[in-house]
Amino acid sequence: MKANQLRIYITAALFGVAIILLGLNACEKEKEAKTTEEVVDNSNIEVKGKETAVLTAPPLVPAPVGKRSAKKLIVEMEIIEEVGEISEGVEYVFWTFGGTVPGSFIRTRVGDEVEFHLKNHPDNKLPHNIDLHAVTGPGGGAESSFIAPGREAVFSFKTLNPGLYVYHCATAPVGMHIANGMYGLILVEPEGGLKPVDKEYYIMQGDFYTVGKTGEQGLQAFDMEKAINEDADYVVFNGKVNALTGDQALTAKVGETVRLFLGNGGPNLVSSFHVIGEIFDAVHVEGGDLINNNVQTTIIPAGGAAIVEFKVDVPGSFILVDHSIFRAFNKGALGMLNVEGEENEAIYSGKIKEGIYLPEGGGTHSMADKKVKTENTATKTLEERIKHGKSVYMQTCFACHQAEGQGIAGAFPPLAESDYLNEDVNRSIDVVLKGLQGEITVNGETYNSAMPAQNLSDEEIANVLTYVYNSWGNSKKEVKAKEVAQRR
Ligand code: CU
Repeated sequence: MKANQLRIYITAALFGVAIILLGLNACEKEKEAKTTEEVVDNSNIEVKGKETAVLTAPPLVPAPVGKRSAKKLIVEMEIIEEVGEISEGVEYVFWTFGGTVPGSFIRTRVGDEVEFHLKNHPDNKLPHNIDLHAVTGPGGGAESSFIAPGREAVFSFKTLNPGLYVYHCATAPVGMHIANGMYGLILVEPEGGLKPVDKEYYIMQGDFYTVGKTGEQGLQAFDMEKAINEDADYVVFNGKVNALTGDQALTAKVGETVRLFLGNGGPNLVSSFHVIGEIFDAVHVEGGDLINNNVQTTIIPAGGAAIVEFKVDVPGSFILVDHSIFRAFNKGALGMLNVEGEENEAIYSGKIKEGIYLPEGGGTHSMADKKVKTENTATKTLEERIKHGKSVYMQTCFACHQAEGQGIAGAFPPLAESDYLNEDVNRSIDVVLKGLQGEITVNGETYNSAMPAQNLSDEEIANVLTYVYNSWGNSKKEVKAKEVAQRR
């Protein structure tokens, strides 16, 4: 046999073995996914003893069940209708399970017999009930728990399926009760409990619909038409814009493992949950048994849940968002996880250096170019300078400040009829030269965004400012390259 032939035979044989191994592996995988018949029947788990469940307000969760046996677990839940803040200066009448949005976190284990006491506070205006997705039974308990203000209903259920489940009010109009904050999470831990981690938190997304537009101050009523059209004014974590930022940000230390119990109350929107600068090591998909690894963004359906786990490796602020990103930056779906500890430059270096980037043939110029152009400026007429300035504007400024200098409300200030520009030319030159960050007031409106320093020559800055000053009702000032050079 020739050496070539032998090589072909060996390759073919190895290939065959690989196919068989892959096949076997696929069979194993198939075994992991169970059919309905194969799912463990937990209805016979014996109950030993009785205890009252400790419930917690978000973002905290009760202690893990650990290795405790199944018990009769008493859950006492009070419905409270109360005014709260949905955003700074914006009030809303929330309907709550336990006084918070989302409602109190309930932690059980598989096989528990939950005796549920639902109390409707006498000061409330409406009847309510509860549908727990962890319940096997009609309405998830809704029918058995329907109660008027000043009444208490008791029903019981056995937790048959481990997982993370949503509960919510199911009183008509159901959408309105949910939209007003009536949802929360109930965890059913598997036999032996979930694997221990260092930090556990409870976060639930919800969308809100108000008669006034986003940010409109004062007490805001629920808007049924916007809710039907799924046109949310607020999309928030834990019932409020900034519920998880500043002093209320989540915390962890470098090296710790973090588990987030995530829910989505809806009523309408699906969440694309993401943590900026982190990768989920493990996701319990939809709160069930299936574990996916190395996930960037996980979907949480309305009326669904997920558990995500990750280890924090480097310090810093990690931003939690719904990656339907306008919801995060314009409607409130943004939180923070602050991680403290030692830097690890092998994992993340931080900015090592920053320098000038001048692509060949780009719209920027070297120092030498600048000098030549500056000398030419004097020979140009005002009209030519405005024309050149306009072309710089359309390449550099247009995206934020817009074609007619009108800016973008709430984000980028107008340059048209701008008191800020017309008051102080040197300040305007400085802004273009050095950038600007922080709060400013333009024509009575405050803006708080960031403008980077512009990499433009003195002549370009002079001309673009001359164009702006000679447009849209501004002061008609002519800015000279010489003036820019003096401020540089
Ligand atoms: Cu209700």
